Amino acid sequence: MNTKKVAVIVGSLRKESFNRKVAKEMIRLAPEGLELQIVEIKDLTFFSEDIENSPPQTWTDYKNQIQNSDAVLFVSPEYNRTIPGVLKNAMEIGGRPPKENSWKGKPGAVVTVSPGAIGGMGSNQTIRVAAANLHISMMTQPEAFIGTIKDKLQEDGVTVDEKTAKFLVTFLEAFKSWIEKF
Ligand SMILES: Cc1cc2nc3c(=O)[nH]c(=O)nc-3n(C[C@H](O)[C@H](O)[C@H](O)COP(=O)(O)O)c2cc1C
Repeated sequence: MNTKKVAVIVGSLRKESFNRKVAKEMIRLAPEGLELQIVEIKDLTFFSEDIENSPPQTWTDYKNQIQNSDAVLFVSPEYNRTIPGVLKNAMEIGGRPPKENSWKGKPGAVVTVSPGAIGGMGSNQTIRVAAANLHISMMTQPEAFIGTIKDKLQEDGVTVDEKTAKFLVTFLEAFKSWIEKF
């Protein structure tokens, strides 16, 4: 089987982002046959329909990276029980104009990470709502709400503990099987 390329979109621009740390751990833990790569969203300007037909180069480059991937993985915090604005903006840009929807038909998955107890469940659910409209086929199970993340990082502050790593491997194996269905 060919290696499947997964575009990883991190919904936080924070330097010490827990979500970015978990995304990097997922890159490290990815099973053979799955290649995860972060697609950066920090340079995307705000979406406007006025410029969607003559987009800036940053939008085009970003869309090409999505387009050239076999699947997409969102790793995101929850802001006010919903999607962080920067991630929503990146979802919008990827999906417009409708005839050039870069997400269309791709298999997807979502992981939400929070220092809070419920692991960004509200964000996880609302990312799924937007993804459905963008024609991304999201994996339904297992769900990944990673709460109390500060307690799940090892002393180095970078790597996750054994139990969390095991869960991420299970999640990635399931995602690989999901991608193979497409
Ligand atoms: C504007 C804002 C809203 C937030 N709302 C929530 C929330 O609804 N639920 C939650 O679990 N954490 C919330 N938080 C806390 C974030 O989970 C926390 O800042 C987290 O570290 C952000 O993810 P990151 O580390 O990847 O940047 C919020 C933080 C900010 C800045």
